[in-house]
Amino acid sequence: MSYAADSGVCLDRILASTDLSGLSKKDATTFTRRLKEHFPRLFDKYTYVYGHQYDCYFHLQKLVEILRDGLKSRKPALKKLDNERLKNPLWYRDEQQVGMACYVDLMGPTLNDLHDKIPYFKSLGVTYVHLMPLYDAPKGDSDGGYAVSDYRKVNPTLGTVKDLEKLASALQKEGINLVLDFVFNHTSDEHAWAKAALAGEKQFQDYYYLFDDRTIPDQYEHTLREIFPQVRRGSFTFNEQIEKWVWTTFNSFQWDLNYSNPEVFNAITSEMLFLANIGSAALRLDALAFIWKELGTNCENQEKAHVLIQAFNCCLQIVAPAVVFKSEAIVHPDEVLKYIDKDECQLSYNPLLMALLWNSLATRKTRLLTRSMKKSFSISENCTWVNYVRCHDDIGWTFDDAVANELGINAFDHRHFLNQFYTGRFEGSFANGVPFAENPSNGDCRVCGSLASLCGLEGALKSNDSKGIDDAVKRMMLLYGITFSIGGIPLLYSSDEVGKLNDYSYRFDDTKKHDDRWVNRIAVTRADTELALGNTSPANPTETASLRVFNGLRKMIAIRKQNAIFGQSSTQILDADNHHCFAFLRENTQGHKLLVICNFSEHPQTIQRSLLATLKGASGRDLLTDETVEMNASPLLLEPFQQMWLLAD
Ligand code: GLC
Ligand code: GLC
Repeated sequence: MSYAADSGVCLDRILASTDLSGLSKKDATTFTRRLKEHFPRLFDKYTYVYGHQYDCYFHLQKLVEILRDGLKSRKPALKKLDNERLKNPLWYRDEQQVGMACYVDLMGPTLNDLHDKIPYFKSLGVTYVHLMPLYDAPKGDSDGGYAVSDYRKVNPTLGTVKDLEKLASALQKEGINLVLDFVFNHTSDEHAWAKAALAGEKQFQDYYYLFDDRTIPDQYEHTLREIFPQVRRGSFTFNEQIEKWVWTTFNSFQWDLNYSNPEVFNAITSEMLFLANIGSAALRLDALAFIWKELGTNCENQEKAHVLIQAFNCCLQIVAPAVVFKSEAIVHPDEVLKYIDKDECQLSYNPLLMALLWNSLATRKTRLLTRSMKKSFSISENCTWVNYVRCHDDIGWTFDDAVANELGINAFDHRHFLNQFYTGRFEGSFANGVPFAENPSNGDCRVCGSLASLCGLEGALKSNDSKGIDDAVKRMMLLYGITFSIGGIPLLYSSDEVGKLNDYSYRFDDTKKHDDRWVNRIAVTRADTELALGNTSPANPTETASLRVFNGLRKMIAIRKQNAIFGQSSTQILDADNHHCFAFLRENTQGHKLLVICNFSEHPQTIQRSLLATLKGASGRDLLTDETVEMNASPLLLEPFQQMWLLAD
């Protein structure tokens, strides 16, 4: 018997014994209709992972009840949004979409204060706000909120769930999508499940990976990658209270959830639906690569991790179809691509583009960027990239070693160079960054720092070097310009938009000093926003640069929004005939064409006009300067760090 047939019988039986009387008539109809559509897929995924367990069907039935309750508590405004988004499923590919990620406390400092920031978001053109994790978390170090103690409670220092719901609907009214984190690989050790496990309750001990001795952890550790070697060696933490080893991929207080237990899947689905029902348009799937463990592997990107995410996706389709998933897979480029699918994650961070933009800035060369993007940029038309330059985390050099090899680049040495370059250990570097998570066994590390500091603004301001300041601002425009134009949702990292420098104050805070990522988690103050909005004037070179950055980004965003070519268009990566330059062509079904050419060097560069032939016209108009560029014989000149957005006339 095929799965489809099995699932039909199964659904009939489940529905026969599931009480839908708590749902309105309309909801009951919707629920049954959506189950008919999506249950076969859910059944397929669920039984693939849990089918060998004797109680699989019992849990599947419970899951349907959880979905029913999720729909019951979904507010009318959100149901309306569900219908709208079902009619316009590709909203996220629209040129109007521009994102920003920010910490509530660093911008608010509370949820209620963020209402006042809506005009600021709008003045920049932001339509998607990712609020960094804001759930109840341990006091002191909570991995910046990524150790969640209660998904249904907002961290009291930021506000309440009511405040969050109010903010979500205020944002929705202004056309701004709220994005929340779904931190489902682990909970904090203060979550009620962990507390019950600590109290010795077997049921909850099975929510996590607990081991009596080192036998099994040792077997796993043969093949595991260490994520935070500066915190603790290995991936397990000994808990004295229960005298067991706990699987802790990240910090010792972040306990990995055990997804081989269907009860965990169900319990987390219920939490996920709660977050969806707050009014989020997208959920960011934190650390999704790690959710399935398989002995003898690195326990990242396992097949069943994908199956589970697809199962979560089915649950959303049934209860909250307006909500999409964003993949946070900071892994090998081939693995990043595997999460991207309409039925898995519709959105994905683009860590490869991010890392290679920084690579090109350091080397002034674009070979690796061009070659890698040719290989890995193209994804399903139903999905889209979230392109970013900086975020709250470190920069990891996740490029494909094989591609580097093809170009004669030794990947290991090159990563070493990049780390040296961005942490100020390389003579002549413009960057002020900080090394992160140095691994004493293999010398590996990653890089932290703010956009402005990594682009050279910190050093240039210190030495009063006006050319250096100018170059730094141009570098920032270049990197962001590519995220605005290449295809996908550009995601600004709050504080970048006003060019804030590294914040070293974390070094004096005992709860933060061991985690250098805090250097790039920077407050955007009232003074910053007033300056940006033109309500105050710049009073020193730092403020002058800050205003230049803000106005420069705002202008590019406005141009993006005025031109449909930045939305649902294809992207073709081109070979620029100059290895300091990067070029790509956008094309849409209406026949519009845009050629983007970028110079990564601090020297002027020329490009043969044959590249312009891809535009198939006699001339192109640079949207950034409004100048017309003719197709004639002489080479095209690009100023240092210049980018051109040439729209075919
Ligand atoms: C994600 C977050 C990072 C966090 C980790 C563990 O990678 O971006 O900040 O440390 O997950 O939750
Ligand atoms: C690792 C993980 C990534 C996480 C980061 C945090 O690179 O792969 O998911 O964001 O560590 O620093």
